Amino acid sequence: MTAPSTTVPSLDVHGLAYAYPDGHQALFGVDLTVGRGERVALLGPNGAGKTTLVLHLNGILTGGAGGVTVAGLPVGKKHLAEIRRKVGIVFQDPDDQLFMPTVREDVAFGPAAAGLRGAELDAVVRRALERVGMEEYADRPPHHLSFGQRRRVAVATVLVMEPEILVLDEPSSNLDPASRRELADILRALDVTVLMVTHDLPYALELCPRAVILSEGVIAADGRTGEILADEELMARHRLELPFGFVPGSVV
Ligand SMILES: Nc1ncnc2c1ncn2[C@@H]1O[C@H](COP(=O)(O)OP(=O)(O)O)[C@@H](O)[C@H]1O
Ligand SMILES: [Mg+2]
Repeated sequence: MTAPSTTVPSLDVHGLAYAYPDGHQALFGVDLTVGRGERVALLGPNGAGKTTLVLHLNGILTGGAGGVTVAGLPVGKKHLAEIRRKVGIVFQDPDDQLFMPTVREDVAFGPAAAGLRGAELDAVVRRALERVGMEEYADRPPHHLSFGQRRRVAVATVLVMEPEILVLDEPSSNLDPASRRELADILRALDVTVLMVTHDLPYALELCPRAVILSEGVIAADGRTGEILADEELMARHRLELPFGFVPGSVV
C-alpha cells in the first residue's frame, strides 16, 4: 500500500456476489465502504443476505465474485489469520463464541493463540473486560452469567484482538431493556469501526450515524440513519417497520 493508513477504509466490499453450493444466490454485487471509525447499521428484511455478507468479511465464506478488503488487506486464504484478527465478529448467539471454563480463559483464548503470555496477556484480558464492564466476572464460568453478560463477554473476546472493525450480528436481540441500554453505552464508548446488523431500528438510529439497507442481495440504500428511517416508502419497500409510535425525527 502506498496510501497513508488513515485514508484506507476499514472495510471495502466491491462487487461481491455469492451463490451457496445448492445454487441459491444470496448476494448479487454488493458495494460497501466503511471508513475508519464509522459506525454503520446494516438493515434489511429476513433473507436479504446480511449474514451471508458478514460471513464474507473474515473469509468464512469465499469463492464468489468480487472481493473484500480490510484496512487494505484482501480477504482470502493468503492473509486469513491476520484478517481474522482484524475483523471481530460477534455472532448472534454468545454461546457460539464462549466455550472455556472461565470468562478470563475465553477472553485470553485469541491473544494466547497469537502468542501472548504472562503479565502481558493478563493485562490485555483485563483491559478488554473493563471495556465491556465485566472485569468482576473474570473467574466465573460463562454459563453462570445472564444472556446480556454473555453477550458482553463475547464482545470482549473480539475487542481483545484490537480489531480494525467490530461486526455485530443482532447485538440487541434477546436482551432485556436494561441490558440493551448497557450494551448501547458500551458500544457508543468504543473507539472502533462498527458494522452492526440489526432489526432494532431505534438501536440503529441511536448508535449508527449511517445506515445501509441490504435487500435481495444488493445495497438498496445508503445514507444518514435518520433520513433512511424517515423515508416511509423506502422502508415499506424493504419490509422495514419502525416500532409503534416511534418517530425517527424525535431522537437527537
Ligand atoms: N447454507 C445455505 N445454503 C443455501 N442457501 C442459504 C444458506 N444460508 C442462507 N441461505 C439463503 O441465502 C439468502 C440470504 O440468507 P442470509 O444471509 O441468512 O439472510 P439474512 O441474514 O439477511 O436474513 C436466503 O434466501 C437464505 O435462505
Ligand atoms: Mg441473518
